[in-house]
Amino acid sequence: MIITVGNEKGGVGKSTIACNLAVEAVRHRRRTLLIDADSQQSAMDFRAVRSENAGLPQFQAVGITKNTIHKDIQGFRGYDLIIIDSGGRDTQVFRSAILASDLFIIPVLTSQYDVWATQGTTRVLEEARSFKDIEARLVINQLIPNTIVAREASDLLEGLGVSLLKTRLHARVAYKQAIAEGKGVSEYEPGGKAAREIQALWREVGLK
Ligand SMILES: Nc1ncnc2c1ncn2[C@@H]1O[C@H](COP(=O)(O)OP(=O)(O)OP(=O)(O)O)[C@@H](O)[C@H]1O
Ligand SMILES: [Mg+2]
Repeated sequence: MIITVGNEKGGVGKSTIACNLAVEAVRHRRRTLLIDADSQQSAMDFRAVRSENAGLPQFQAVGITKNTIHKDIQGFRGYDLIIIDSGGRDTQVFRSAILASDLFIIPVLTSQYDVWATQGTTRVLEEARSFKDIEARLVINQLIPNTIVAREASDLLEGLGVSLLKTRLHARVAYKQAIAEGKGVSEYEPGGKAAREIQALWREVGLK
């Protein structure tokens, strides 16, 4: 199974979600590879911090910022799960990351600006779908607790034409602090709200 986490829009939580899914995967003893397809290399930095903590289960990571990911990936054998953190700054690399995937997870924030900015991503997805069947799901991230009702957010996102996951990730300090320590939120604060959200995401995309 190959999952790409992507959105051309910056700062929506692509790296946060990709790294947390990689952590969930190793917690579930999946042989996991994280591909960092962003020249910013946030996922590689995360892996570097994590690898200094010998007590944590490790996963492999590799940076590929070329438009050949969908071809390169065919040579990567022996993994149960490959997760790609896509940058979106370079359209060719972004396209290649989408083409590589079985499932494309698009993190979105809930402002109208974010919805507009995500339309470019859904267009690239549509193009990629002329070559390959790719499942796609939107996931709301950084929802401010108690501000926007779920219905309002869903209405706003409906126009994007991609199904929305029921799991919503809220803005929580645990997401920031966990990453700084090279941990997933499940390790940073076991049983906490962020941990429950990431585990719900893991289950909802069928990875349990
Ligand atoms: N649910 C959340 N709660 C709190 N902070 C979050 C959450 N999700 C992401 N963040 C923070 O928002 C910022 C952007 O997140 P992240 O780097 O994961 O986004 P990105 O889409 O990968 O960005 P880029 O486009 O630069 O690659 C980071 O500082 C991250 O810690
Ligand atoms: Mg990123």
